[in-house]
Amino acid sequence: MQVNGFHHVQVLIPEGGEDPARAFYGGVLGLVEIDKPADLAARGGCWFAGVGMALHLGVERPFVPATKAHVAIGVADLDAARVELGAAGRPIIDDGLDVGFRRLYTEDPFGNRIELVERSARSGSSPSIAVREEFEISTDSERLDLAWLIPALSERAYWALGRQAETIVRSIAGSICFGVYAHDRQVGFARVVTDQATFAWLCDVFIDEAYRGHGLGAWLVEVIVAEPRLSGLRRFLLATRDAHELYRSHGGFGPLPNPDRWMARVAE
Ligand SMILES: CC(C)(COP(=O)(O)OP(=O)(O)OC[C@H]1O[C@@H](n2cnc3c(N)ncnc32)[C@H](O)[C@@H]1OP(=O)(O)O)[C@@H](O)C(=O)NCCC(=O)NCCS
Repeated sequence: MQVNGFHHVQVLIPEGGEDPARAFYGGVLGLVEIDKPADLAARGGCWFAGVGMALHLGVERPFVPATKAHVAIGVADLDAARVELGAAGRPIIDDGLDVGFRRLYTEDPFGNRIELVERSARSGSSPSIAVREEFEISTDSERLDLAWLIPALSERAYWALGRQAETIVRSIAGSICFGVYAHDRQVGFARVVTDQATFAWLCDVFIDEAYRGHGLGAWLVEVIVAEPRLSGLRRFLLATRDAHELYRSHGGFGPLPNPDRWMARVAE
């Protein structure tokens, strides 16, 4: 057997616990609820996804909280997580032991133990970072702020209106993602779908309304076309309604050559 990582982790909740579960796993931890397959939906419970993780909450009757066995979830900033847990009224348990990484325990609304572990980017993900004044561009997908990104795309980006949270999470997993941050707060995004050898597709370029017109979009496009994993491509494509000049001046993009040779299969 060759195993290749966790597919998902299941945590048990009591009957009727879905709403408090949503408040904690969605509201406090910031995970995104995804639809359960129809065949499983009648059993209750709910499923959540985050960047690089899937968590299934299943109903158990009778319910006994897992006070020792636990899920350990990575966070970028343990101190910030501590403040947010406190504000949400969740307990914070420090065991004081030095285990080589920073962590704390908390409990979900049902008494299940949850460990939060501070960890930076996964080794091997090689985030390339550009910094300018108080702004930073990172390709670390684990830094992406889904609470900002999902409404930005699904409610405010004309080409992605109504896009499901689950679809956005899946699209992140299949792309090189570029996050723009102001003092660690996400204010911009773009992603590139690519084989990292011959072809790439740039899409979902979005700068937060409050930060537009200050050169961030131009800088983001410049950083993307300079990304080492995207060097030497034969074709780098994108589609835009009205931002042609941005991509022409700052990315070297031009009109599609030989458009009669191209075809698209487009879902309505
Ligand atoms: C388009 C967008 C990413 C530009 O980001 P920004 O930070 O506001 O842009 P900048 O301040 O870096 O401006 C860069 C250049 O693009 C131009 N530009 C910006 N938005 C433009 C638009 N919608 N149409 C045409 N040109 C635009 C600017 O005039 C500027 O020109 P310059 O380099 O000659 O000075 C941002 O406005 C946005 O997120 N818009 C909504 C989503 C969107 O339309 N995304 C693009 C989808 S293809």
